[in-house]
Amino acid sequence: MTDFPKADYEHVSKKILIIAGTRPEVIKLAPVYLAMKKAPFWEPLFVSTGQHRQMLDQACAVFGIKPEIDLNLMQPGQTLPELTSRVLLSVTRVLEETKPDAILVQGDTTTVLGSAIAAFYQKISVGHVEAGLRTYNYQAPWPEEMNRRLTDPISRWCFAPTEASRQNLLAERIPAESVFVTGNTVIDALLYVRDKTRAEKSRAELVAECGIDTAFAAQFIPGNLDAAGRPVGKQRLVLVTGHRRESFGSGFESICQSIRQLVDRYPEVGVVYPVHLNPNVQEPVNRLLGNHPRIQLIKPQSYEPFVWLMGQAYFILSDSGGVQEEAPSLGKPVLVMRETTERPEGVDAGTCRLVGTDPERILREAALLLEDENAYSQRSQLKNPYGDGQASERILQVLAESLNH
Ligand code: UD1
Ligand code: UDP
Repeated sequence: MTDFPKADYEHVSKKILIIAGTRPEVIKLAPVYLAMKKAPFWEPLFVSTGQHRQMLDQACAVFGIKPEIDLNLMQPGQTLPELTSRVLLSVTRVLEETKPDAILVQGDTTTVLGSAIAAFYQKISVGHVEAGLRTYNYQAPWPEEMNRRLTDPISRWCFAPTEASRQNLLAERIPAESVFVTGNTVIDALLYVRDKTRAEKSRAELVAECGIDTAFAAQFIPGNLDAAGRPVGKQRLVLVTGHRRESFGSGFESICQSIRQLVDRYPEVGVVYPVHLNPNVQEPVNRLLGNHPRIQLIKPQSYEPFVWLMGQAYFILSDSGGVQEEAPSLGKPVLVMRETTERPEGVDAGTCRLVGTDPERILREAALLLEDENAYSQRSQLKNPYGDGQASERILQVLAESLNH
């Protein structure tokens, strides 16, 4: 990561719209917004598009964020064209009314692309947090690969989390002076929330907050971890999340089949699965996994209990982008239920392994972690390929430096 010169904040007084629509965008932009709020030289306005309603509100609450502007755009079962046009039109109105010096967006969602285009049409500078991640496969992640790819050339500042993402941008002829390697702000959020939760909440409070059955928790989340953060005893908690569009339909049926086979084959395994609110996820997961004594289907979790659950897990089964980034910092192996990833650093670190959605492959990889102590040890080392917790500070320095001139 580059150390940027300290900016002279004294001459800066800039209005920055921080626009977020979904849970991960809030988690990853919260550290930037909160850092700006602390410095009187910035005038940050948090704009929620409300692409996610409940999950966005839940994430905002953890950081004490009350969006200054809330567009409330979510509709149940929304389609991409409908949501994209609502974001473009509504964000355009906000930009006309607020006239910011710049906007910040994060990641690869519909909110990101719609907001970036709205700003581009009004010639307002865009900062893209988490720029440059690529699979170079437009079908996976879909539509996110294209959303992210289209947002980068629009952006005046591309905040690349790693050197590899910087190289992707340079290969696409994004000017080098627009690209800044900052680390990923998710690590800022993760470290802050992990420490705060440890200091403020007991195991019993967290179990209750998660909505996990107490008998299940007594068996699979006893809370006593060894010095390396591994559970003492034979029981193994497996944490699951999943929501990718490219897995809707047969992919999700296969994922659920794998989870059932896993618990049936290993009596020492208990699964906790916070189920994403997308109806394409809710339906198959509740139908196929809803009645097993060692599978706890729970609501999407607030970030505090979720970070705690990651810490308690033996390994994680997930298709989430954010989880792939967080797991190396927690030393938790992740079986990534995708065929390709725009986050190769976690795979290179050994923490993450791509396993697709085929039950046979998932079971084989899960068996390795459950049965081979050496394999598990190697893949549960603490590593920080995505950052050191200072990414938002670096982003502020870059913005202050260039908006000051
Ligand atoms: C979106 C993003 C995806 C991101 C994910 C994070 C796009 C195209 N997809 O996917 O990149 O990884 O968020 O979780 O931008 N719903 C609720 N309440 C909520 C959230 C969702 O009811 O709080 C339901 C609604 O029926 C909504 C549907 O889920 O219409 C889909 O939401 P949407 O944001 O379009 O897609 P996600 O699958 O959540
Ligand atoms: N997360 C959370 N509660 C949950 C599941 C996930 O707070 O029940 C967090 C997770 O730690 C990560 C982010 O949400 O920071 C990832 O969101 P998601 O998987 O929905 O989106 P993606 O990262 O794949 O875009």
